[in-house]
Amino acid sequence: MPYPPNVRADGCHGTAAAGHRLTDLRRFSDTRGSLAVIELGREVGFPVRRVYYMYGAGAGSARGAHAHRELHQLIVAMQGSFQISLDNGRGRCVHRLDQPTRGLYLGPMVWRDMSDFSADSICLVLASECYDNADYIRDYDCFLQELRG
Ligand code: TYD
Repeated sequence: MPYPPNVRADGCHGTAAAGHRLTDLRRFSDTRGSLAVIELGREVGFPVRRVYYMYGAGAGSARGAHAHRELHQLIVAMQGSFQISLDNGRGRCVHRLDQPTRGLYLGPMVWRDMSDFSADSICLVLASECYDNADYIRDYDCFLQELRG
């Protein structure tokens, strides 16, 4: 289906798309099952210094509600699905991650809200830096101020 020139195939408008990118992971499937790969320089563009994952989501739970000042991340729904809403201060878009071979890259200064987790969901996050609470912006108005300031 053709898309208007300013709308990407994933449904995000140009301004909303800045700061994130969906990427397909390499997959090798045979009679034994499937294997997906995330390798520096191919599926991920930053050296990975931290890996974490979220699982056991309760009904109606929400996560995120923050942006990072410097951090780069790649997010994958290893199992199940969840919704992630993105806001870069100039536009918003929403993705449902539901495939273990689809990665969502998020760069710095993208506000994200995560919701509608399936009960079996496992959300894998590869991050460019070790945990640093000072890198978080947890107040949306502060996020907008830092973007514009
Ligand atoms: P939090 O940042 O609240 O998760 P999210 O915003 O994605 O819903 O993290 C929950 C707790 O886990 C919080 O006490 C900080 C801690 N944590 C670490 O210690 N290291 C990490 O790498 C992450 C992501 C969280």
